[in-house]
Amino acid sequence: MEQVSRLKIITIADNMAYETNLWGHWGLSFLIEYEDSRGERHRILFDTGGDREAFLHNLREMKLSLQGVEALIISHGHLDHTAALVEAVREIGGVRVYGHPHTFQPRFFEDQTGRRREIGVPEGEGIAEIEEAGGEVTLTRRPIEVAPGIWTTGEIPRESFEDIPPPSRGGRRIIVVDGEEQTDLIWDDLSLWMYVKGRGPLIITGCCHSGIVNTLNHVSRLGGFSEFYGVIGGLHLIGRDDTYIRRTLEALKPYNLRLVSPCHCTGFKAMTHFLEAYPEGFILNYSGRIIETHRELENRVF
Ligand SMILES: [Fe+2]
Ligand SMILES: [Fe+2]
Repeated sequence: MEQVSRLKIITIADNMAYETNLWGHWGLSFLIEYEDSRGERHRILFDTGGDREAFLHNLREMKLSLQGVEALIISHGHLDHTAALVEAVREIGGVRVYGHPHTFQPRFFEDQTGRRREIGVPEGEGIAEIEEAGGEVTLTRRPIEVAPGIWTTGEIPRESFEDIPPPSRGGRRIIVVDGEEQTDLIWDDLSLWMYVKGRGPLIITGCCHSGIVNTLNHVSRLGGFSEFYGVIGGLHLIGRDDTYIRRTLEALKPYNLRLVSPCHCTGFKAMTHFLEAYPEGFILNYSGRIIETHRELENRVF
C-alpha cells in the first residue's frame, strides 16, 4: 500500500478560531499536503466550510493559495461543508471533485409545523456551476484513491450501535432521491483514510454521520488494519448523552488511537470526554490549526 509522509493537515475552517485574524463558524474545511513514496508533493482539499466569505477570508489571512490542489473531496452534501465549492474550484483552476450520488440531491429539515429549511449544497454551488468553473465531478458509492495513497471510504455500512437520531426538537430530515422524498440517513457521508509512514492509518472525517465506530470498522476491513494512528475531524456527537459517548469511546479502545483531534460537530461535551480518554493524544482543532504528523507535536492540548 502506498504510504504518505510529511503529512500536513491545515484547518481552513472550523467552528472555532484561535488567532485574532481568522474566523470561526459552523463548518469545516481541511487542506491536506503530503509526500508520496516517490517524494512527490501533493495537495488535496476536503470540504469548503459553511460560509463562503469566511472560507475565502481565512485562505487570504493564512496566505494559502489553492494552486496545485489535485482533488476536492466533499464529505457529504450539507451546507456547512459545501459553501464555497465553486469558489474553491475557480481558485484551483480546474480540479477533480469527488462525492456520493446523494451529495447534490435536494435536502431539507422539516420542523414539527411542516416548515422547511434547505440544508443541502447551497444554491450556486451545484454540479453545473462546478463544471463551469472547471471541476470534473465524480459521484460514487465506492472507495476511491483520489491522490496517491489517499482514499475515500465510499459509502459506510451502518453495523454498530450508532444511529442517526431524529432532530432533537422533533421534525425530520428529508432528501429527494429519484424524485421521491425519503428520510435522510445521510448515506453520502464519507471520510478520508491513508497510511502515514512510520505512524499508521489515519482517518479524516467531515461530520462522520455514519458514526466513528462504523467508519473505523469499515476502514479496518478495507485496509486490513487492526489499529489506527489517529482520527481528525467532526464526529457528530453533539447532543448525545454521556452513555452514548462512553459507549463510543469503549468501542474505539481496541483501535489504540494515538492522535485524536475531534472538532466541528463533535460538540464540547464529547470533546471533553475525548480529552479525558486520550490526555496525551488529544489535539484541539480550530481555524488555522496545522497538524504535521512528521513533527513532534507540541502543545497537544491547546
Ligand atoms: Fe457538519
Ligand atoms: Fe453534516
